[in-house]
Amino acid sequence: MQNVTKFFVHQIFLTKLEHNSYKDKGREMDILHVSAECYPVAKAGGLGDVVGALPKYQCKMGHYAKVVMPMYRTKFLYQHEWTIDFKGRTNMGNWWFDYTIIKEKNNVLGFDLFLVDINGLLDREKIYGYADDTERFTAFQIAVVDWVNHWEHKPGVIHCHDHHSALIPFILKHSYQYNRLQDVPTVLTIHNAQYQGWMGWDKSIYLPVWDRWKGGLLEWNKTLNPLAAGIKTAWKVTTVSNSYLEELKYMSNGLEKLFQYEQGKCVGILNGIDTDIWNPATDEYISHQYDTATMTEGKLANKKVLCERFNLNEENPLIVFIGRMVGEKAADVLPDAILASLYSLQGNANFLILGSGEPHVEWQLSQLTGALSGNYNVFIGYDEALSHQMYAGADFLLMPSRVEPCGLNQMYSMKYGTVPVVRNTGGLHDTVLDMGDGGWGIRFEHASVGDITHAVNRAAAVYKDKKELTRMQQHMMKLDHSWENAVQQYLNVYQSLKF
Ligand code: ADP
Ligand code: GLC
Repeated sequence: MQNVTKFFVHQIFLTKLEHNSYKDKGREMDILHVSAECYPVAKAGGLGDVVGALPKYQCKMGHYAKVVMPMYRTKFLYQHEWTIDFKGRTNMGNWWFDYTIIKEKNNVLGFDLFLVDINGLLDREKIYGYADDTERFTAFQIAVVDWVNHWEHKPGVIHCHDHHSALIPFILKHSYQYNRLQDVPTVLTIHNAQYQGWMGWDKSIYLPVWDRWKGGLLEWNKTLNPLAAGIKTAWKVTTVSNSYLEELKYMSNGLEKLFQYEQGKCVGILNGIDTDIWNPATDEYISHQYDTATMTEGKLANKKVLCERFNLNEENPLIVFIGRMVGEKAADVLPDAILASLYSLQGNANFLILGSGEPHVEWQLSQLTGALSGNYNVFIGYDEALSHQMYAGADFLLMPSRVEPCGLNQMYSMKYGTVPVVRNTGGLHDTVLDMGDGGWGIRFEHASVGDITHAVNRAAAVYKDKKELTRMQQHMMKLDHSWENAVQQYLNVYQSLKF
């Protein structure tokens, strides 16, 4: 595969890696985020949103936060200017490879963005889903550590996100080659513990030569488990809501005992939302912008656009689902729940679904369009603009998630005056209070057809009670889910590491 980097390089400086040392800029903390996703560079879900926002708000609050991620072949890569920051050569087991770190030239995201190019391995169109993902993300992590090892100063903290960067704390502590970085504090944020990056022991030779006595730190249930290794070796671990942290101790895809054992170093910090992007008054993706004063007309105008496009009746309450069609999101229950809800409401509701994921769920949801035409439609795929239009134009957002570590959709929907109808779990529990308890949303307990149908019936009832609906909408739109609060909590975590 040809080397993509060479097309984007406008300037080369390779002499020494000072990285605009944060001290020169008089900033407080020097934070390096390592992630597989970062919006708008590459996003598959909420991880991208968080890594695109948290560093920006850390910088706004006077810190020097930057992001390093793989260089995929995404639109963002081709639309922006890059400089070469570093070229290195290192190895993953017996395989020696060259890597290049490129830096976005104009600080368009509000923080310094670095991409790791490993020719033929990372420069692909999709983020995940290749047979060699283990090799891709392991090589990525090795390249990041090797690069940081060439810096003149050491970063104040390396902040890793999910299993794709969870081997870094182990490598820093136990790989002889990177001894110099042993005292660099590490934080691991768990956005989703369902995916752990499991690999066979034969692949343990990929890691830069490490102290074999320490093998137990990589192991969980007889496999090499990067997420478990990160939980054991990071200096601190955070999860994206408090309730999720509690749930992990009894439901974490096999890691329950580990979370119980390591609870002393774990902290729950609820995500914020990026109001530069998610704000109905300024959102350029939506057809009609609105604020609290113009909410009723604004939402109706956006709803009309959706109803026309998807052949729905604008008189009915519009209930939408946006998300990955996977077991965690309970997307598999949607077909039966939609049928049961429409039956019980005698067709007086509309559903619109946006998402992609497991093929049989996509197929089932697509099949429904024939039978339920006029009441239901689906868009299979990923469409950022349509998602914004749906948050704006819908009356209700349905999230029956079996697992929801934080959930950003419900926070976006609240900002857009769309009532969340959510299963009472994880971050949904922490952000949505049921209208029956004086709150502004609808909560239910089980990801079952019965519970969803009952919740949809409650939604349809409140849709008729315009006074109550408007009260909830106005209240939600004023809720503060901005990042500033979370940024402060992350700073407290970094500070507790005493650097
Ligand atoms: P998760 O990260 O588990 O998928 P979150 O609620 O944290 O869940 O974030 C999901 C993010 O991905 C939101 O920004 C949501 O709008 C977006 N999203 C999910 N599926 C789609 C899709 N098919 N098209 C556009 N945006 C999507
Ligand atoms: C994960 C979780 C989601 C969370 C997001 C951002 O993908 O599934 O609940 O909001 O990460 O932290």
